[in-house]
Amino acid sequence: MESGSQSEGLGAFGWWLVAVSQALGMSMVVLTGVWMGQYHGGFSWDGSAHQFNIHPFCMVLGLFLYGDGVLVYRVFRNESKRPVKMLHALIHVMSMIIFLIGIVAVFGFHSSNKIPDMYSLHSWCGLATFIGFCIQWLMGFGFFLFPVASAWLRAWYLPLHKFFGVLMFALMTMSCLLGITEKLLFALPSTYSKFLPEGVLANCLGVLLLLFAALLGYLVTREEYRRPPNPEEEPLSVHFKTLNEEAASPRGSLTSP
Ligand code: HEM
Repeated sequence: MESGSQSEGLGAFGWWLVAVSQALGMSMVVLTGVWMGQYHGGFSWDGSAHQFNIHPFCMVLGLFLYGDGVLVYRVFRNESKRPVKMLHALIHVMSMIIFLIGIVAVFGFHSSNKIPDMYSLHSWCGLATFIGFCIQWLMGFGFFLFPVASAWLRAWYLPLHKFFGVLMFALMTMSCLLGITEKLLFALPSTYSKFLPEGVLANCLGVLLLLFAALLGYLVTREEYRRPPNPEEEPLSVHFKTLNEEAASPRGSLTSP
């Protein structure tokens, strides 16, 4: 059996990559918990600095979930599309809710402590990314899960949805990296350069985030890991092909004169 062929599973190497991505994702979440728990006193929802700590934890967990939501199309590449689409949308809803809790936590912390809102590059990029993610989810829901659009429109939108999905993932990763740097500059204003354990731990978290993003990017862009054509999806693609050919040929004729 040849691994990595379009009609088979991911292959041994692909599964290894998926396993490594999950190990990286879990390590990111654990490391964020340890950072906020050990060095910043843990979590609570009381307007104190402990409420702030919920923010990074939720954002990193949300990013991990978002990545997994994208990965379901590769991991379940031979399953029928509808349940996979539903799982993709469900995981992304969970990720969105977790992001929202993290954002509400930091806004609440700012307002309890009279800290101005939205002054940093991190907050601008972060909020823009979150809004982009919500729009992307709503569009995906409308076009693909509860289709209000014609087959033609869906086929037109699919490449855009894929592009913006990857873009959102890249922007989320970047927002996390900006947030980590900003937090370190607040927490260790004069000692960051001294290689203290907190600084090294948070830098390692940033490296894990980058490795997770790189691995995920590889898994979702490699041609051999894409979903093979599925008979269940044939009628739609045939219908669309016919529409295209009709549009391309004069007077809607399918054959050349
Ligand atoms: C996708 C990921 C993230 C998004 C969308 C995001 C979003 C935001 C937003 C919108 C604010 C502004 C809150 C306000 O002005 O009241 C903020 C603040 C903050 N975030 Fe994040 N964040 C993310 C990840 C992180 C991470 C991983 C950290 C790491 C510690 C972090 C650290 C901070 C800090 C220190 C602030 C307070 C200072 C500021 O307003 O910039 N963020 N974040």
